[in-house]
Amino acid sequence: MPWKKLPIKPLAYGLPGSILVALGAYKYGQYNALHNPPLNMFPNSSTTKLKSLQPPKYCRDLSSVIPEIAGIGVEVVSSKPEIEHHTSNDFTTHPPKHGEVPQYIVYPTSTEQVSRVLKICNRELVPVVPFSGGSSIEGNFHSTRRGIVVDTSRMNKVLAINDDDLDVVVQCGVNWQRLNEDLEPYGLMFGTDCGPSGLISGMIATNASGVNASRYGAMTANVISVTAVLADGTIVKTRQRPRKTSAGYNLTSLFVGSEGTLGIVTEAVVKVYPKPKSETVVVVQFPSISHATKTVAQVFRSGIQPSAIELLDANMVHCLNYGKYTNKPMLEVPTLFFKIGGINGTVVKESLKILQAITKQNEAASFQFAKNKQEQEELFSARKNALYAMTDWSRSEIDQDIRMWPTDIAVPLSKLSHVLTMINTWIKDSPFKSTIVAHAGDGNFHASIFYRPEQRDEAEKMVNKMVELGIVNDGTATGEHGIGNSKRKFLELELGEDTIGMMRKIKMALDPNRILNPDKVFKIDPNDEGLH
Ligand SMILES: Cc1cc2nc3c(=O)[nH]c(=O)nc-3n(C[C@H](O)[C@H](O)[C@H](O)COP(=O)(O)OP(=O)(O)OC[C@H]3O[C@@H](n4cnc5c(N)ncnc54)[C@H](O)[C@@H]3O)c2cc1C
Ligand SMILES: *[C@@H]1O[C@H](CO)[C@@H](O)[C@H](O)[C@H]1NC(C)=O
Ligand SMILES: *[C@@H]1O[C@H](CO)[C@@H](O)[C@H](O)[C@H]1NC(C)=O
Ligand SMILES: *[C@@H]1O[C@H](CO)[C@@H](O)[C@H](O)[C@H]1NC(C)=O
Ligand SMILES: *[C@@H]1O[C@H](CO)[C@@H](O)[C@H](O)[C@H]1NC(C)=O
Repeated sequence: MPWKKLPIKPLAYGLPGSILVALGAYKYGQYNALHNPPLNMFPNSSTTKLKSLQPPKYCRDLSSVIPEIAGIGVEVVSSKPEIEHHTSNDFTTHPPKHGEVPQYIVYPTSTEQVSRVLKICNRELVPVVPFSGGSSIEGNFHSTRRGIVVDTSRMNKVLAINDDDLDVVVQCGVNWQRLNEDLEPYGLMFGTDCGPSGLISGMIATNASGVNASRYGAMTANVISVTAVLADGTIVKTRQRPRKTSAGYNLTSLFVGSEGTLGIVTEAVVKVYPKPKSETVVVVQFPSISHATKTVAQVFRSGIQPSAIELLDANMVHCLNYGKYTNKPMLEVPTLFFKIGGINGTVVKESLKILQAITKQNEAASFQFAKNKQEQEELFSARKNALYAMTDWSRSEIDQDIRMWPTDIAVPLSKLSHVLTMINTWIKDSPFKSTIVAHAGDGNFHASIFYRPEQRDEAEKMVNKMVELGIVNDGTATGEHGIGNSKRKFLELELGEDTIGMMRKIKMALDPNRILNPDKVFKIDPNDEGLH
């Protein structure tokens, strides 16, 4: 287009070029100063480096904002128990620093309300931490900036059960166990589990996965679509309900694992599965961890798809024996728990035969399987009670005041045995005790270190060493709990500066004021001196 045809505002007619340029510069300067963040904070590159950013500016005095939010009709609370519940939980490895406490908790009951709350917060630069069940353990919801917490747990309706499509439409605050209860009459189940109090939106935000992930995948595999509210209050829905689509960017996936830093999820369409018609539980014991992991690899190759494959190390079995969590004491050796399902008993029996042959090749010391529903519950309860068993044992046998540091490193299956064996050697040479429980099917394990309060720094060093070992073995610092603000330095080690720079660019594009869950996953403030 010839330049003459460019539209020029009437004011500019007849003004000499130099004045135009000066005017332009003034306008730009004014725009830049008024604009928050100024344009130079959003550099012209594909990634955003931390040092290219100015520190974010937040509103501290919420005295005029809170009445406006309450005016929408959302409940706002600030009682001591409410504040405490939304500040941290006992499982968090890095408790919040002094003063990392929210000022108010806000309870919206609709997507529309969330949108109106965020519009106000974005305009006034109020930090907003999204919150669901509060069961995450990596400082994922710490109020590092003393703003408000938007608790979405009251949006807890199951909106539609599309049983023929094998999907359900839920509000974000639905608890996964309650969803399973609602699905029971349909013979259906949800594929993902996590901490008992986890809610769908928190699970989406951390890409949760539990014992069933080896068959049904992590949260990411089970979310078809989300409705989310962006930082400025815009409401987006990422998809309708098709199982297949090639329609543009996968924004659903962008929200999975984003830990509340890109938007507040208010609704989701998630997949559900028919419950296996027939199922059994198998417990097999091995002379070494590598015998157990070889078994897992061979089971996958045989084509059997167990719904759960859990590995407990000898220390963990010791805790179970100690607390008498099983009918009779088990050998204190590496042990695999399998859940095997199928369309009928014959199919399950066939799978059992194959499984037994594989375990025999790997020198299994014992092979036990449940003959009925009750035996299934009994056998699997040993795995289910692992957390209680290790708590009991460590409190009684080490120290009443003992702390536990759970890790959630994940590595490719072929590296699992090497990494676990290494860790057990380090622990033997250390002042600590530990237990290992692995979602072996996914190469994901919880090596929990028990330490006395005064040993915290030393325990952290050990954990760091373990995570680094996982990363050099092609793994990840976090298979299921997320980065929060306690593993940020590992994310850098794992993915490098440029990959994080790309994440930061997306963050800045969607939330330029950095109001949403500040300081989580990666740093957004060049002055942030946080060590983790
Ligand atoms: C005993 C115990 C066992 C556990 N076992 C497992 C396990 O097996 N597997 C596993 O994956 N995890 C496990 N966890 C961790 C935890 O249950 C999961 O991380 C879970 O996904 C957190 O869900 P939540 O609803 O409690 O989320 P919260 O803790 O409330 O929040 C988690 C993150 O999601 C963000 N968020 C919350 N709501 C929203 C929203 N509406 N929109 C956008 N972002 C939001 C928060 O800001 C935060 O970053 C366990 C925890 C405990 C205490
Ligand atoms: C896992 O899947 C099985 C079916 O394979 C189901 O019975 C169970 O309830 C699911 N959830 C958990 C937490 O085990
Ligand atoms: C997009 O992301 C979601 C959530 O992670 C995932 O379930 C889905 O398979 C992905 N692909 C498409 C094409 O939607
Ligand atoms: C979620 O977890 C699964 C399995 O652990 C992994 O394959 C996937 O890449 C993760 N997705 C996101 C978006 O983090
Ligand atoms: C079980 O399912 C298999 C595979 O579909 C089938 O061949 C077999 O006849 C079934 N057995 C029973 C007892 O229903």
